[in-house]
Amino acid sequence: MTPPLPTLLVTGGAGFIGANFVLQMRQRQQATVITLDKLTYAGNLQSLAPLKDDPHHRFVRGDIGNRELVAHLLEQFQPAAIVNFAAESHVDRSIVSPEPFLQTNVLGTGALLETACRYWQRLTGDRRDRFRFLHVSTDEVYGSLGPDDPPFTETTPFAPNSPYAASKAAADGLVRAFFHTYGLPVITTNCSNNYGPYQFPEKLIPLMILQALAGKPLPIYGDGQNVRDWLYVADHVAALAQVWQKGLPGETYNIGGRNELTNREVVHQICDLLDSRQPGPQSYRAQIAFVKDRPGHDRRYAIDCRKMERELGWQPQETFATGLAKTVDWYLTNPDWIAGVRSGEYQTWLARQYGEG
Ligand code: NAD
Ligand code: TYD
Repeated sequence: MTPPLPTLLVTGGAGFIGANFVLQMRQRQQATVITLDKLTYAGNLQSLAPLKDDPHHRFVRGDIGNRELVAHLLEQFQPAAIVNFAAESHVDRSIVSPEPFLQTNVLGTGALLETACRYWQRLTGDRRDRFRFLHVSTDEVYGSLGPDDPPFTETTPFAPNSPYAASKAAADGLVRAFFHTYGLPVITTNCSNNYGPYQFPEKLIPLMILQALAGKPLPIYGDGQNVRDWLYVADHVAALAQVWQKGLPGETYNIGGRNELTNREVVHQICDLLDSRQPGPQSYRAQIAFVKDRPGHDRRYAIDCRKMERELGWQPQETFATGLAKTVDWYLTNPDWIAGVRSGEYQTWLARQYGEG
């Protein structure tokens, strides 16, 4: 007889990375999943539509900061682990309004930790030993690198520069504190920039794809020489599955793609792919517009992911060229999903951020 699937409580599972994680967990039949998501502007139930009739998936709308609800879900479903993706995640929005970032990323994570800790303290035996609180974080907590600096390691000191990065650094600190103070078996991952299917089109890559196809300007901040280390989302999700199964409590793991590119190079590659897939009267590169820089714009991020490779045997499967081609093709072939996210809220954001009427 096959053993029953373990249950995961996945918070923020209707967002970009969370949805990719939930879909992959179910496709590979690795877990029964309870998705808890507040459905902010970034949460989208359409991303979980393939699981509509899946008896091993349950969606619950709610806030990670709602202690009563989370305690109830933990009692009801007895998960083997919590995977926390829930967050406000866009740097530009954190510059416009930091408050929701403090509310969810700091206070929300704190409340989730407290509730999880109470649940875990009442477990016994194997269930207690195997329980994990997996916290999904970002490389942005480490701050900005110069052109010749070595990539961020797990011991690089935190130096966040945006309200988003500072709120994630605070959350990571709380996660660490729950391990040292209460022994809660937490694991934190700090990952570089993700891209792929189901990403909300406020972030660089999907924004550029959709702006290009709409014949609108492609707004590159500053001189376009800022560097990010891009990782295809399925590779991130595979890394998280490894961390859940094999990672050690109290440890942090850096996850990255070894794909350092300037924003200018990224936008050029998107334009070139679109030129070949859906040619227009002129190259999409003609739509590129250099615009006012983001305040406090970090110059370079790069991740040293040797610990993941050495200790957990993980390696990214996609190069930037293969991952970007899959991503562009996904946005070209999913017009319904795109129509769904182009709500009034998205138009309001474009108007506020880029002055589009
Ligand atoms: P996202 O913005 O696409 O999704 C966040 C999800 O969390 C949404 O579904 C939203 O509705 C939900 N949410 C927000 N507040 C909530 C609350 N209080 N309670 C419950 N649900 C809530 O974000 P993403 O890009 O999928 O990122 C997921 C996580 O990974 C975040 O913690 C982010 O910091 C981290 N991360 C993201 C990247 C990246 O490149 N996108 C890179 C590294 C780490
Ligand atoms: P983003 O996708 O917002 O991720 P993060 O700020 O978390 O790295 O931005 C990626 C890079 O692209 C970052 O250097 C800012 C830049 N960028 C632009 O040049 N134009 C844009 O319109 C956006 C959204 C981002």
